[in-house]
Amino acid sequence: MVTPPAVPALLDPLVRAFIDTALPAIARRHGTPLHLVFPQVFARNAANLRAVLTARGIDHRLCYAHKVNRSHAFVREAHHRGLDIDIASAGELDSALRAGFPPARIEATGPKGERFLRRLLDAGTVINVDNRWELDRIIALAGHPVPILLRVSGFPSTAASRFGMPPDEIARLWPVLAANPERVELRGVSFHLDTGEHRDRLRAVTGCLTLLESAWASGLSPDVLDIGGGLRQVFTADPDAYDTYTRALRASLLDPRSTMAWSGATFGYRVGDTAAHGIPVFHKYANTVPATTALAALLDAELPGHHRSLAAVLTDNLLRLWLEPGKALADHAGITVAAVQFTKDLPDGTVLVNLDLSRDQVTPADQESLVDPLLVPAEPRHPGPLGAFLAGHLCLERDMISTRAIRLPFRPHPGDLLVFPNTAGYHSDLSAGTAAMHPLPPRLAVTRDRSTFSTGPDAGYRPTEEGPCAPTTTSPN
Ligand SMILES: Cc1ncc(COP(=O)(O)O)c(C=O)c1O
Repeated sequence: MVTPPAVPALLDPLVRAFIDTALPAIARRHGTPLHLVFPQVFARNAANLRAVLTARGIDHRLCYAHKVNRSHAFVREAHHRGLDIDIASAGELDSALRAGFPPARIEATGPKGERFLRRLLDAGTVINVDNRWELDRIIALAGHPVPILLRVSGFPSTAASRFGMPPDEIARLWPVLAANPERVELRGVSFHLDTGEHRDRLRAVTGCLTLLESAWASGLSPDVLDIGGGLRQVFTADPDAYDTYTRALRASLLDPRSTMAWSGATFGYRVGDTAAHGIPVFHKYANTVPATTALAALLDAELPGHHRSLAAVLTDNLLRLWLEPGKALADHAGITVAAVQFTKDLPDGTVLVNLDLSRDQVTPADQESLVDPLLVPAEPRHPGPLGAFLAGHLCLERDMISTRAIRLPFRPHPGDLLVFPNTAGYHSDLSAGTAAMHPLPPRLAVTRDRSTFSTGPDAGYRPTEEGPCAPTTTSPN
């Protein structure tokens, strides 16, 4: 089997220090697999995003998108740091209420059935309305003016969305809202685009501002523009290494004898006779722009047709900006740790490293992680790089944790640890199930006080009064 190039992952210095000094003892005490979350990193991410907004004088509301992770520690930290919260299920509503969020600081997004809608009305949260049926049910059931946003989609030249309503449909709702002031109170309009492209977001903002103006002309007074989430994470420590790896992988897909892809995996590429084309499933791992930089660039960009920056348009018009970041707040705030159970050599020379973890506990849905896990040996080992695929513990052919060959620094032994970096943003929770009666990995919250790490159950985490740990630079693994 070939030894592929390495793709070093970026690691937060706090997380790196934890891995280097405390992880082996924690893994011995709690066993594996484990999800570890770092609320201090979460708090720092929140403070950094907030600084971008306050530096521009923007009246804002940062709503932590709970769906990114099941961690209670993150929810409690968000509450403690004065964030609001975006919830998308009854379970997330319970979690937010338990952490102490008052209903006015809870915004419910996503599609809602009758039961969830009734719970939201009982609780008194802000409701981000996805469709006409939801609005009609709110008007039918509300006993007092329910604060709502309307979700807009279908902007020119953006990808089709199953969420929200097109601008012309929204504009037709103004008379309905104006006729029911005792049932609904329009706070504003919203969108969510999962894109790194400013142009798409600016186009959506422009469409939303036009809608707000038409609402004002209809006698309504919304003042919120909610731009959703979608700010990216930075996974890779070395963009050149990422490019080198993906070039080798693409070339290997053309070679029938190649050993870089497991069992015909093509990673979303369209494989022709002479080249592999298209956008791979792992494209987000290529991003090198931190969320704070992307947010600043968006706010400072000139808004088409307004001859001013988005930030100036917001402040000049006394508009309030709401954001719903998920993965940007969870960036570098979690790792997942598994243990090697055994290695296996297939007749063609392929090496499989079996772990006590399943793919869905460390990979978002149908994606493939394109940064390398760290191998932490139980005892010193001789260096000797090799290529291997990582296999999961489920008795299913498809439970391969990597379907791309990964470079390991030496041949792992049973009991060695593999640390998956930056897993708090959807990787650990989005599709994780309890197949074959394997329990979900326990989740621990890790905090650092000076150089001492403390670890405890995520559910029992309580924030302390101190501010988020000082901003630091991140380092490659
Ligand atoms: C409505 C809405 N807001 C916010 C988010 C969070 O997005 P991200 O994690 O990309 O910031 C999502 C994610 O699906 C969403 O659907």
